[in-house]
Amino acid sequence: MFDTAFVLLVIAALLVVVGFCQPLAAYLKLPPPVLLGVVGVALGGFPAVLSQLGWSARSDPFADIFVELPVSSATFIYVFLPLLVFEAGIVTDVRRTLQDAAPILLLAVVATLITTAAIGFVLWPLAGVSLVVCLLLGAVVATTDPAAVIAIFRDVGAPARLTRLVEGEALLNDAAAISLFAVLLGMIISAREPDIGSGLCEFFLSFIGGGVLGLLAGRALLAVIPWVRDDRLAEATLTLALAYGVFIAAERLFHVSGVVAVLGSGLTVSALGRSRIALYNWSFLTDLWDQIAFWARSLVFILASILVPRLLGDVGLRDLILVAVLVAAAFAARILVLFVLMPPLEFFKLTQPISSAYKLAITWGGLRGALTLLLALAATENAALSPEVKRFVAVLATGLVLFTLFVNATTLRLVIDLLGLSRLSPRNQVLRDQVLALSYAEVCDSVRDMARDHTLAESAVEEVVRPYQARIAATNARDAAERLTERDRLAIALAALANQERVLVLERSADRIASPATVQVLLRNADLLIEGARSDGRVGYRRAAEAALSFPVAFRVAYFLYRYFGIVRFLADRLADRVELLLVTRLLVDRLPGFNNRNRRLGPIFSQRITELTGEIVERRREAVDDAFDALRRQYPDYVGALEIRFLRQSALRQEMERYRALYEEGLIPQELYDDLQRGVSGTSAAEPRPRFDIGLDAHRLIERLDLLSGLDERQLDRVARLLTPRFTVPNERIIRKGDRGDAVFFIVSGAVEVALPARPVRLGTCEFFGEMALLSGRPRQADVTALTYCRLLVLRKADFERFMTANPEARDAINCIAASRQSMNLEDRDRATEAASL
Ligand code: CMP
Repeated sequence: MFDTAFVLLVIAALLVVVGFCQPLAAYLKLPPPVLLGVVGVALGGFPAVLSQLGWSARSDPFADIFVELPVSSATFIYVFLPLLVFEAGIVTDVRRTLQDAAPILLLAVVATLITTAAIGFVLWPLAGVSLVVCLLLGAVVATTDPAAVIAIFRDVGAPARLTRLVEGEALLNDAAAISLFAVLLGMIISAREPDIGSGLCEFFLSFIGGGVLGLLAGRALLAVIPWVRDDRLAEATLTLALAYGVFIAAERLFHVSGVVAVLGSGLTVSALGRSRIALYNWSFLTDLWDQIAFWARSLVFILASILVPRLLGDVGLRDLILVAVLVAAAFAARILVLFVLMPPLEFFKLTQPISSAYKLAITWGGLRGALTLLLALAATENAALSPEVKRFVAVLATGLVLFTLFVNATTLRLVIDLLGLSRLSPRNQVLRDQVLALSYAEVCDSVRDMARDHTLAESAVEEVVRPYQARIAATNARDAAERLTERDRLAIALAALANQERVLVLERSADRIASPATVQVLLRNADLLIEGARSDGRVGYRRAAEAALSFPVAFRVAYFLYRYFGIVRFLADRLADRVELLLVTRLLVDRLPGFNNRNRRLGPIFSQRITELTGEIVERRREAVDDAFDALRRQYPDYVGALEIRFLRQSALRQEMERYRALYEEGLIPQELYDDLQRGVSGTSAAEPRPRFDIGLDAHRLIERLDLLSGLDERQLDRVARLLTPRFTVPNERIIRKGDRGDAVFFIVSGAVEVALPARPVRLGTCEFFGEMALLSGRPRQADVTALTYCRLLVLRKADFERFMTANPEARDAINCIAASRQSMNLEDRDRATEAASL
């Protein structure tokens, strides 16, 4: 056998091939796997060619390497599978994908089952092997590799949601197919009759068990990640350990699906990690995983294709017919899923309607890749399977992979052209042009700035910027020829503006002044603005802007927990998040008008009318953000002040750190000093966690602020405090509903509410009260009362009202008097209204 050094040498040689295949594939305009496949097959066929030429392949050590593959496929599975799957999980934007969770889950799981069943039942009568084996083959080929089709969709500007759907589906599809594969393999090995009921049950158990394990493992990792204190190398190392650890634990310890567990942990890290790992560390992590998965995918491909000539050496006509049937069945199953399963989902609005052209493109783009080969290898290496079964699975799966690689992958662009999907819509075309034009404008700007800083000649500047200006002019001329409506142009300008916002967020995040979680929310908001503007223009942009200011689900959950279970902590944390988010959003939106108005950016590209409109829209957005922020600031000025200080201090520390780095890099301070200084700064910045938010719901402290009770002494206050319970409300929350039975009176300690009286709304503010009339008169509530701001109220329940009134005669008189005047005011209003009606 070969020694380790030799195996490594072979791998190194293969990596050289992989490395060169990338640029070559780009040059030949071929998908890289196609080229890798060709090279692999050529390498694998080499010994056969040698022996044909009369040289003995056996005695030639070079050919032996490829004939006797030095790495067994069990190694393949354990080494490569966790890597491939974990990467797929970690790069997924889970929150986005979750929006389409129902269709994705349904499509992935049901599609896998349908594909497996279709292929199994079609091949069974022809293949001469048992049904389970045919089903096993079905599971092996049910995985799809969406990379090619997604790359093209991105190029042609397909709706983002559609791309996400395809991505998400492929992701879960792999997990479902591999779990199913494991279940079927178990059945074959234990020579059990295929029993659909218990098979499905086992499948779901292993799927769900794997998912839960992955989720827990992912959470555990995130719990320990803070210990490595932002060290990106350590963070990346832990994720690698997680991928392998959870795979082995699932397979060997818990006997659930290892792949699903790895995927689950990858998705968990992706969903929660983005907000716990600093943005720059996060991109390092995903870049690293991209690299790892690239190696894994390429090596699997090339090693598997080296095996192809040997596998297909004795292929006969019958095998070819079976491959043809398999190809037909696989595509028919995909068509069935897309054209029969999707329409109900579209009907129930569970997913965006997908045009038939796109469905056909998705069908044709259903390539089979590294995972299919890996599963086929796993089957061939399994000693418990008979040689016919191994051969059947290996030959057919490889045949399908080769077919999709050489036929589908190479013609995918052509098919997309034929389906009429490749031409960017005029709107997208102009959008792309304008984004480029904006970059040219930016280049011109920075050249001018630089010339000014270094007092360079104006003529030199003109010389350099002329070609860029020519390009901008050409773009404008071309786009002007496109007959776009004013509406389309506005949509494009707004999308460009939202794009700029995204860039600003990324710049800000480098300063580390916002927490990673806030940065993620800001990025997502910017993406929603871009998508909104692209799909629905001004309305879409406005809708996205409103959504960005609304209370997110986490806030609502926290509020629910506060309201019904009295848990304040989560609500306080979410309020703190909101302050931080609004603080940074305000900074961003403040910078947009500069981008919009200065005649340097949007100015030269869009007409004045458009920039005026975008200016107005941005202005309105700024007002909305200011209002939202002020609403919080007015109630919690101390907290906002503390946060502003922290915000400034963080950015000062950041700058300090940068200065030290510059000094160190220029050789002005030695390494030890630099390390010391740096440690000092990171110690200070880490030592300053976000201040804790205090909602301020201490009954005693609140009572002191009520004028109505100012005459009470210490003991009386104490007694009253026991009767009153604090309550917090958010803006627009309805506190009292007209027509309900009265159950409490509310005193406003801070904030304002609105009483929706028929004649006109009445506003009540700090130290006023409401809800007393129903209690005094025993009649239903007279009007809706809604919070206008964040309010802190003190609530006096009906049962305690009497006691309160007797114990506090002064307050009682005041309440009675105000209630009487409100009553007479309402009666007057009503009389006036009936008079007006009778006239
Ligand atoms: P109630 O009828 O219990 O519920 C609605 C509340 O709105 C009512 O008690 C008063 O507290 C308040 N309200 C009704 N009319 C007026 C008014 N004219 N001015 C101020 N508050 C009012």
